[in-house]
Amino acid sequence: MVNKFTVGVLTSGGDAPGMNAAIRAVVRTALTNNLQVIGIQNGYEGLINGEFHPMDARSVGGILQRGGTILLTSRSKRFQEPAGQRDAIRKMNEAGMDALIVIGGEGSMNGAYALSQKGVKVIGIPGSIDNDIWGTNIAIGTDTAMNTIMEAVDKLRDTASSHQRAFVIETMGRNSGYLAVMAGIVCGAEMVLIPEVPVTGEEVAAAVEDAYQRGKTHAIIINAEGSAIRTTDLVEKIDTLDLGFKTRMTILGHIQRGGSPTAYDRLLASRMGVKAVEALVEGQHGVMTGLKGKGVDFIPLLDVISNKRKVNMEYYHMTKVLAR
Ligand code: F6P
Repeated sequence: MVNKFTVGVLTSGGDAPGMNAAIRAVVRTALTNNLQVIGIQNGYEGLINGEFHPMDARSVGGILQRGGTILLTSRSKRFQEPAGQRDAIRKMNEAGMDALIVIGGEGSMNGAYALSQKGVKVIGIPGSIDNDIWGTNIAIGTDTAMNTIMEAVDKLRDTASSHQRAFVIETMGRNSGYLAVMAGIVCGAEMVLIPEVPVTGEEVAAAVEDAYQRGKTHAIIINAEGSAIRTTDLVEKIDTLDLGFKTRMTILGHIQRGGSPTAYDRLLASRMGVKAVEALVEGQHGVMTGLKGKGVDFIPLLDVISNKRKVNMEYYHMTKVLAR
């Protein structure tokens, strides 16, 4: 019997809504192309440990609409070391795995590149709510997280207006202000704080006071997790000043990572999953799928990991103009 070309699939790093839709697309496209699929549990940790199981069309049934990842995920320290990468490759060879599809964020693409440098045929698929991966307009999960934030801030604004309060709302994004800036636009924030632009507590206080003077019934401040000021410190600072509004805070936290993926994320994940397998079939590897314009393109993993995605300053300035 001739062994079929076998592709492994894993999810790695922070989970993102739509990862399941991507897994489903990978598995079903692979089967359509007469390939075998091995699911790897627990990300790169599971690759090192050999946590493998065969996947068929039914094993990805009913997951399209589910958040999280059925394959589980991890942030593997061991895999960052060459020894861990070598152990992973040994396990792949023992299992007869010919190629690997990695669904994950920036750190996961670093791991994918390291494997490709050691001769493994790898394709990356960008999945991260932070949308901080270079080479794709948007990553899987970002749209769902944006919608979760929007719903939450709309609710907070209702109560903020009723009590004439200022709310400081923290969004995720350790190193990236993408979610905060976009939330600033779609939720109508008075001010947005992001890691990329340092702002002082005094400037925030001035913005809150100014909103009060202009007759606003509330002030919404969006603080990105990675900004220069911690949310608790910021609230403490502005609440002690007599700015008109009293202040409350909400840290949205991991709520932003969960939930059923939006139609946009299901579509993006499906398109990228299909394209990733088609690329392998055509003999491509060492690349990541990326949305460019209206199409899904392939970007060398080396380019992905050597470039830093910057926040769009045009959008940042837009948050200020629209806060009048
Ligand atoms: O990368 C996604 C992300 O949600 C970041 O926004 C956040 O800083 C980080 O993961 C939190 O990681 P963990 O769930 O491991 O605490």
